[in-house]
Amino acid sequence: MRSFLWLTFLLLNLTQNTLCILINVTVDDNDHSILYSPAGAWNARNAASSCPACTAQPDPTKMVSGTWHDSTFYPIDEGTHDIPNINTPRFANLTFNGSAVYVFCALAESVKSPDGNSDMAFYVDGQLMGHFFRPALGNDNIYEYQFPVFSNNSLAPGEHTLVLQNGRVNGTQSLVLLDYIVYTYVLIDTPA
Ligand SMILES: *[C@@H]1O[C@H](CO)[C@@H](O)[C@H](O)[C@H]1NC(C)=O
Ligand SMILES: *[C@@H]1O[C@H](CO)[C@@H](O)[C@H](O)[C@H]1NC(C)=O
Ligand SMILES: *[C@@H]1O[C@H](CO)[C@@H](O)[C@H](O)[C@H]1NC(C)=O
Ligand SMILES: *[C@@H]1O[C@H](CO)[C@@H](O)[C@H](O)[C@H]1NC(C)=O
Ligand SMILES: *[C@@H]1O[C@H](CO)[C@@H](O)[C@H](O)[C@H]1NC(C)=O
Repeated sequence: MRSFLWLTFLLLNLTQNTLCILINVTVDDNDHSILYSPAGAWNARNAASSCPACTAQPDPTKMVSGTWHDSTFYPIDEGTHDIPNINTPRFANLTFNGSAVYVFCALAESVKSPDGNSDMAFYVDGQLMGHFFRPALGNDNIYEYQFPVFSNNSLAPGEHTLVLQNGRVNGTQSLVLLDYIVYTYVLIDTPA
């Protein structure tokens, strides 16, 4: 499936010497530049692949390009059924060239089937830069879409690696429905 790029242009600064243009690039969840791990911990989803094993059933038409990636972190005490990679955080990693990054997820509000609890950590270049913690609000069959779970618009322009970590060792159950990531590419033109 083709990935989609949406470009937004913003003229930041026009002086005699420097033209600096910020370009927003949307990286959809199904773009191959996003690396998901561990193997088998994420389900690539869309309307055509229903994922009967998945408890979260958001509306595909409300997801950017109709796709999302679904993972649940389970702590060790979450029942006895055989869950691969139990108590192991799930990761979505993206290397990008820019000065800002924004992560958008769908959130489930139900407490059960799915358990909509969120426990995410965000690292940029290996440094912890933010968390998104939210207990399930308790509304069955309600999802929030394109919810900004992390942003940073003050990175040094250049190459960075973003890591979304779903769950913590010995933490609580956590659901992630990743829709897309936006980063801001910095185009600097310095005429002679
Ligand atoms: C890029 O997208 C983010 C998130 O939607 C927005 O806050 C920001 O203003 C946008 N930046 C540009 C240069 O369009
Ligand atoms: C993603 O980043 C995490 C944390 O650095 C790392 O443990 C994991 O192996 C990375 N996954 C991939 C596929 O690179
Ligand atoms: C954004 O990144 C900058 C540069 O690494 C850092 O100093 C700042 O604390 C970060 N801000 C947020 C809100 O994460
Ligand atoms: C997780 O819990 C186990 C059992 O209580 C403990 O041995 C281990 O050190 C804990 N790990 C972390 C990272 O908290
Ligand atoms: C990032 O983009 C800037 C602006 O186009 C470019 O000058 C730079 O070489 C790029 N860096 C990497 C690591 O690709």
